[in-house]
Amino acid sequence: MSQDYDQIIRDHTASWLDTQTLFDLRNRLGRDGFILVTEIVPAEIKQVVKAEVLELLDKHAERRDLLLKTTGDTPRFMSVVRSEIIAERGDVITTLYGCPSLASTIERIAGEAPHPCPADDEEFLITRQERAGDTHGWHWGDFSFALIWIIDTPDIEYGGMLQCVPHTKWDKSDPQINRYLCANLIATYGFVPGDIYLLRTDTTLHRTVPLTRDETRIILNMTFASDKDLQRGLTGQDRWWEDSQADAAIQVGTDRGA
Ligand SMILES: [Fe+2]
Repeated sequence: MSQDYDQIIRDHTASWLDTQTLFDLRNRLGRDGFILVTEIVPAEIKQVVKAEVLELLDKHAERRDLLLKTTGDTPRFMSVVRSEIIAERGDVITTLYGCPSLASTIERIAGEAPHPCPADDEEFLITRQERAGDTHGWHWGDFSFALIWIIDTPDIEYGGMLQCVPHTKWDKSDPQINRYLCANLIATYGFVPGDIYLLRTDTTLHRTVPLTRDETRIILNMTFASDKDLQRGLTGQDRWWEDSQADAAIQVGTDRGA
């Protein structure tokens, strides 16, 4: 089966990633820290990924409502399926994560080889925002790249867009997010279900715009490490997706009047 996916992606990539498109994507990723790569896999693969994500959410979703100190107390209001559960129970997702053709496409675009994440609890994340006010507040990633699959998202009228400030750096002891927001332009990207984007997560400050009413926004995150990431360790215990009692997390009531 994994051979099939690998070959399907290889054939598909040959049909869309021509020299000009590659030039364009590389340029924009370097400039914006973000690129839409919706065509990186064909529709039939998106369908099976979607089915697996929905099944994992059905069985393993855990709610998080907290503020994270290492990102200046920005909120995480959503349900998640943790990385280890996805690694253990996932089939298509884990196969695609290890697909040489997918990694090679990302490498050609990013100009750097993406490696499987060295932290077992950060390889994958499924999030579902579902209530008015749900958001993934301003943050950076511990690792260089994330490939994000938009499984479901409401009309942008109701929030759920991605906002980015590229070329910024995460100091976990003094993140100064508001200063970055005042000093830079914020780019906002809206999506439709089925979109996929690649994000330079370590140097792109980003968040999702809070939902303005009860709607469903579901994503699958595949995290990849760069060579540089593999050469350094992690600092701080702020792994909120893993442990809602993480040192850097402040719990907030689930009844936010939303
Ligand atoms: Fe993120």
